[in-house]
Amino acid sequence: MINPAELLSDRYGFSIGNIHTSWNETLATLLSHRSIRAYLPKPLPAGTLESLIAAAQSASTSSNLQTWSVVAIEDPERKEKLSQLAGNQAHIQQCPLFLVWLADLARLTCIAENLGSPHEGLDYLEMFLTAVIDAAIAAQNAVIAAESVGLGTVYIGAMRNHPERVAKVIGLPPYVFAVFGLCVGYPDPAAQAAIKPRLPQTAVLHRETYQLAQQVGAIACYDKVMKDFYSQRQMNFPGNWSEHSVKRIASAQSLSGRDRLREALNNLGLKLL
Ligand SMILES: Cc1cc2nc3c(=O)[nH]c(=O)nc-3n(C[C@H](O)[C@H](O)[C@H](O)COP(=O)(O)O)c2cc1C
Repeated sequence: MINPAELLSDRYGFSIGNIHTSWNETLATLLSHRSIRAYLPKPLPAGTLESLIAAAQSASTSSNLQTWSVVAIEDPERKEKLSQLAGNQAHIQQCPLFLVWLADLARLTCIAENLGSPHEGLDYLEMFLTAVIDAAIAAQNAVIAAESVGLGTVYIGAMRNHPERVAKVIGLPPYVFAVFGLCVGYPDPAAQAAIKPRLPQTAVLHRETYQLAQQVGAIACYDKVMKDFYSQRQMNFPGNWSEHSVKRIASAQSLSGRDRLREALNNLGLKLL
């Protein structure tokens, strides 16, 4: 097992010593996370998908409603179509397994209709948000399960660039929305992915009450860490993290088509009242 001080130093970009707590394989897996965008053409062992889904289903779920589903895609043609809809991200075609995680309000709609019960509550933003949270928590359990057995993953938020077209490709009924995709496969060792540092804890951890002004120093520190991280890896990211982040939120156009998400969701039957 990699030692905690080394993992913590990679996670923050500077040495913070050991956190004084017991250390175990689960923490080591969590702290070792990095997104993988290059995969070996190696099939997954039989039963992998089912164990990832069992891990996902073991996550908490709001009121045990289980308002999520997932579509597992292995067909190269379907992966190719989804890759195109996600801005031609090659890793979607390359990975042996592509999972599309769904906020699923169709199942409850169907159950209510079969029982002759109204289901107006499903039309509210709250239920949509519940389903998105459920899907995200479930997916993250699958990510940790995958990483714990030596697989790599990367989330694909670009599934939301063209929600209606994605829905067609994977045959979604009304009231179901593809929240994100997830590539799963064996990492290609020739394309070593590094642990990407995160903001210092002083930026994200607030004790008793929220503090905004106090984050300035932590952000400045992180900007330096990330500038070095980008340049050490010859990544084509001009500027630091703050500069990079503000570009991502500057305008509706910066959202890669997702500025029309409300309209797309309405088209998929989700009213968001
Ligand atoms: C919801 C979500 C959507 C994401 N969408 C994409 C994507 O479309 N393409 C991609 O290459 N990475 C995507 N990522 C991966 C992030 O870029 C990555 O997690 C972040 O840069 C931190 O790097 P790390 O995961 O290696 O620590 C996404 C991550 C999340 C959580």
